[in-house]
Amino acid sequence: MMHHDSDLPFPHHCLAIKDFSKEHISHILTTANQYILSDGYHIKTSKELEGITIANLFFEPSTRTRTAFEIAAIKLGATAINLNVEQSATHKGESLLDTIRNLEAMLCDIFVIRHALSGAAHFVAKHLSPQTHIINAGDGLHAHPSQALLDMLTIKRHQKPFHQLSVAIVGDIKHSRVARSQIHALRTLDVPDIRLVGPKTLLPDTHNYDKVSCHYSLSSGIKDADVIIMLRLQKERMMDACIPSDTEYASFFRLTQDQLKLAAPDAIVLHPGPINHGIEIDYSVANSCQSLILKQVTYGIAIRMAIFSLIINQPVIATEPVTTQDTHLYV
Ligand code: CP
Repeated sequence: MMHHDSDLPFPHHCLAIKDFSKEHISHILTTANQYILSDGYHIKTSKELEGITIANLFFEPSTRTRTAFEIAAIKLGATAINLNVEQSATHKGESLLDTIRNLEAMLCDIFVIRHALSGAAHFVAKHLSPQTHIINAGDGLHAHPSQALLDMLTIKRHQKPFHQLSVAIVGDIKHSRVARSQIHALRTLDVPDIRLVGPKTLLPDTHNYDKVSCHYSLSSGIKDADVIIMLRLQKERMMDACIPSDTEYASFFRLTQDQLKLAAPDAIVLHPGPINHGIEIDYSVANSCQSLILKQVTYGIAIRMAIFSLIINQPVIATEPVTTQDTHLYV
């Protein structure tokens, strides 16, 4: 059984980074670190969640997130099921809430939900019984908290302390739920220099945020940065034509070996995946010794184990209702 600090109440759900304090995030990172063996690669197994049933409900495609949640559940001794959305009764008109209520009636304890609509996980959390836990695995443009947490774990394990870091997030930040969650996490962890890098059409409005600056050129944005997080163009969420072409975007914002030399000498390169090689990042950079992209994927299992463990070990208390306005928190 993992050690949990009983003095630190933990949220009942994992819906968005903004629900976590600095102490919560630190606690998740410490707990996740305890699941990683000393070789830095293998992950512990335990029976901590024996008897718990975890349901993965992915209404959008996923390779990393869905699989990592499933492996995390198995490693903790839980039962994991994956609803095949394509074959489910949602295609006969059943609502999201009815689908989940039926699975709840089959005694599922935790739901991991990915949905194209911002606020979907919050909506479900508001309507289920108080003992059920919801984990947001990505909702529209809004949030992808477990991805941001695994990114923070990667930074914590491979870089200076957060309060000394310059972090550049490069690419289509406007349409990225990952970037939004990363920015919340980096600010909560007191990172003093957070740079958003990309063409104006792909950067969000940041006037409400201190510590966050915008850079419209890759070379100025990554200069002396300790961490470079590359993002893909999220065409499935672009309403308008935001860039002239992939080729033109790549000519200005693709991370090449030469560009990487502008960053701090020990800079690390992250990418949440999936990668579009040759558009946002060169294959040689993604596979260089400065790239921790596959480490992120491995750490993603430990982070999901920590999330399961921390939310399930909380007393059953009905949380404050979440308003729909809360679900539209854009940077
Ligand atoms: N990073 C991420 O969310 O990847 P998947 O879409 O494969 O889950």
